[in-house]
Amino acid sequence: ALGLLREQDLAGRHVVISAGGTREALDPVRYLGNRSTGRQGVALAEAAAARGARVSLVAAGVETSLLPRHPRITVTAVESATELAAEVRAAGSDADAIVMAAAVADYRPAGRLGHKLKKQASAATRGIELVENPDILASLVAERPVAGQVIVGFAAETGDEAGSVLDHGRAKARRKGADLLAVNEVGTARGFGDVPNSVTILDATGDVLATASGSKADVAHALLDAVSVRFPTA
Ligand code: CTP
Ligand code: CA
Repeated sequence: ALGLLREQDLAGRHVVISAGGTREALDPVRYLGNRSTGRQGVALAEAAAARGARVSLVAAGVETSLLPRHPRITVTAVESATELAAEVRAAGSDADAIVMAAAVADYRPAGRLGHKLKKQASAATRGIELVENPDILASLVAERPVAGQVIVGFAAETGDEAGSVLDHGRAKARRKGADLLAVNEVGTARGFGDVPNSVTILDATGDVLATASGSKADVAHALLDAVSVRFPTA
């Protein structure tokens, strides 16, 4: 009975999920990218749809074979952070929740060349001028297009000399102000690709609400549990 209840607990909800990694074009054939496959975002989309939600999946550079096929999931493929921002905003205008699972490039090349950059030409500079991308999550939190909308971020962290994974996660939770931040340890064969996953779910003050580990589907369901309890009851 519990399983059946959970199965439809997101019926009537619209959930927007960004997934994958943005690609910032240098020229018609090259881009700056990252190692995100989109699997966690896809798992979230599938889990939300299975629980009855209508899902808008904004997929950045996600391999076609990984994309979900489900009658309640609409997939929009994008490349750059700029495109991702526009699609998430458009879909988010009536969403009950927005989950920013995509790895968004912090910077993009200052100019995109219309032609392929030649070896000879680039030897002269060997530098790529970058400009900062807008912080999509931060602007969603600042604008909050829908009252009561639940906004969720992801943080892939490695520890370093400045602090542990959780230290960085807590600081980011406070800085970003998202309702929930899923902190995920990456590097040393964790996090990226088709491997078991483990996340710590923080609230906007950096307090730990839950931890979840297992498959990306298990993590997705745990995160959706944390989202659904925050939905205002109608
Ligand atoms: N994010 C975003 N727009 C950006 C960069 C990040 O919306 N331009 C979102 C990501 O989708 C993720 C969250 O912000 O949900 C955290 O991303 P992360 O890269 O960990 O945060 P940054 O503030 O960019 O910090 P860092 O210096 O660690 O890269
Ligand atoms: Ca970043």
